[in-house]
Amino acid sequence: MFSIFTISVNLETEKRGEKVKLLVIIGSTRVNRNGQRVKAWLQKTLTPQDDTEYEIVDLRDVQLPFYDEPKSVGSLSDDEFHHPEGVKWGKQVASADGFIFVTPEYNHGPPATIKNAIDYAWQGWNYKPMSIISYSTGQIAGARAAEQLRLMALGVKLLPLPAAVHIAHITDKLTKDGNVNDDAINTALNNLLSEHRMIASKLKES
Ligand SMILES: Cc1cc2nc3c(=O)[nH]c(=O)nc-3n(C[C@H](O)[C@H](O)[C@H](O)COP(=O)(O)O)c2cc1C
Repeated sequence: MFSIFTISVNLETEKRGEKVKLLVIIGSTRVNRNGQRVKAWLQKTLTPQDDTEYEIVDLRDVQLPFYDEPKSVGSLSDDEFHHPEGVKWGKQVASADGFIFVTPEYNHGPPATIKNAIDYAWQGWNYKPMSIISYSTGQIAGARAAEQLRLMALGVKLLPLPAAVHIAHITDKLTKDGNVNDDAINTALNNLLSEHRMIASKLKES
């Protein structure tokens, strides 16, 4: 049976003609990272919607060098990039309508890998929404890293959204297989996704 809500969502989707694509960026790249728990959880949880598709990209696989280009990124076109990983990354960023950054907290900020990934693209970020999932092994839950990441994001004209997920004591809350034992975490993710999908689809239409 169709509800009014389902019909209106489908009409909206038809009007746009294509789905919103959200790129989920796993930011910790170190061996034995707890970020793997968050990745496993999101791989299980993020299922395609009528109007949204998700792609999870792991910076450990992207293997970007530390910014090593002869020019500043804002003045480069794809064929001027020195490193093929940079070309590929720039295209992947450009293909998305919004971004969800998954960040641990390293010395009160996000890891350098995330800053470098932000630096390694420009136009693909501009005026697109971004949300944050942060975590730590302690009680701060990566909240300080999330705040710093919002400021960094403004430098490439990303639009940080208010809803976020902050996971404290990650090794207690998320198993290595991505099972959550705290309902509040799934609730926070649902809120983040609803907000992000609403804003990303409106920006895509405009
Ligand atoms: C270099 C480094 C710095 C850290 N700094 C903080 C910190 O400032 N605040 C915090 O709550 N946890 C900090 N931690 C602990 C991390 O929250 C914890 O190691 C977490 O698992 C890191 O994510 P990852 O395992 O996915 O890399 C730090 C860990 C590392 C490796």
